[in-house]
Amino acid sequence: MTATFSFDLKATDGAARTGVISTPRGNIRTPAFMPVGTAATVKAMMPESVAATGADILLGNTYHLMLRPGAERIERLGGLHKFMNWERPILTDSGGFQVMSLADLRKLTEKGVTFKSHIDGSKHELTPERSMEIQRQLGSDIVMCFDECPALPSDRARIEDSMRLSMRWAARSREAFGDRPGHALFGIQQGGLEQDLRQESADALRGIGFDGYAVGGLAVGEGQEAMFAVLDYAPAQLPVDKPRYLMGVGKPDDIVGAVKRGIDMMDCVLPSRSGRTGQAFTRRGVVNIKNARHADDPRPLDEQCACPACSKYSRAYLHHVFRAGEMISGMLLTWHNLHYFQEIMSGMRAAIEEGAFEEWERGFHETRAKGDI
Ligand code: GUN
Ligand code: ZN
Repeated sequence: MTATFSFDLKATDGAARTGVISTPRGNIRTPAFMPVGTAATVKAMMPESVAATGADILLGNTYHLMLRPGAERIERLGGLHKFMNWERPILTDSGGFQVMSLADLRKLTEKGVTFKSHIDGSKHELTPERSMEIQRQLGSDIVMCFDECPALPSDRARIEDSMRLSMRWAARSREAFGDRPGHALFGIQQGGLEQDLRQESADALRGIGFDGYAVGGLAVGEGQEAMFAVLDYAPAQLPVDKPRYLMGVGKPDDIVGAVKRGIDMMDCVLPSRSGRTGQAFTRRGVVNIKNARHADDPRPLDEQCACPACSKYSRAYLHHVFRAGEMISGMLLTWHNLHYFQEIMSGMRAAIEEGAFEEWERGFHETRAKGDI
């Protein structure tokens, strides 16, 4: 067991990169997709099943866990890894983003944000210092800075003020995090769709110094074209020798486009959430399993997928259990979706290593263009 956190780039192909993040809890192969385990569970999945899909790391949420069951309780019970039976690395988001999208009666000041819980209306405060404390109590391996992320579209003055506040919070996060060997602290770049503000943010973060750098403030309503336009320059504004994490992204084609532009890590609820609403992501695009055309179909969801949903069940069965509201529906579709997302990641990692990313990407888009049949 090594006590340090490090990132080794193995190969690049254009702007795309592949490498390994080493942590005391295991290695993270990049580009990495992190399934979301908001409430100390990847919904509908046992942890060993999540690992079987190929996930090296999960994402957890400060906001949800501080409200229920409480960070102090998780710490007393031995930390989040033990609590949820996931021994591999965990990255935790810092809470600011979730407060803004979920909590009631939010009040934002220089110090931090006060809000009422969306669960029981109780009053809470999050500051950079408190967020660092909670993420330490959880035992998070990769801790995120406390930041603020304005919804887009927003006017430039609002984006600028918010980015500068996030940079002051990043400095306070760094100070409060302290020196914790084996644990990493990532900064979060903000600045909306403004290249000069993104540059100012990147420079501020680099001046503070972090173990990794996230691109925040995207996938908040701007659309893929605008997001890719930012990703055409944002990764290059960040240090080349540290992991770059695009927060909250995305659909399969968003993920591929982000990796192509130099992103190393991503997270999204899409594969798990969609699995519970009957949406399957496949090589040939999105399949709605509730659609009547599947009712008599003995074929697997995807004949080339090795996941349990595809290797052991028919579309007809998946259709039936979804329509009947059976729990196995969410379990099987979530497993399939997470498996497919991880296949995309391993495919990209291998292609980058071979210097064949463009060819891989062409195949990815061509197969999707054929559509589901
Ligand atoms: N999740 C998605 N986007 C963001 C962001 O900008 N900041 C944080 N903290 N989390 C996010
Ligand atoms: Zn499958």
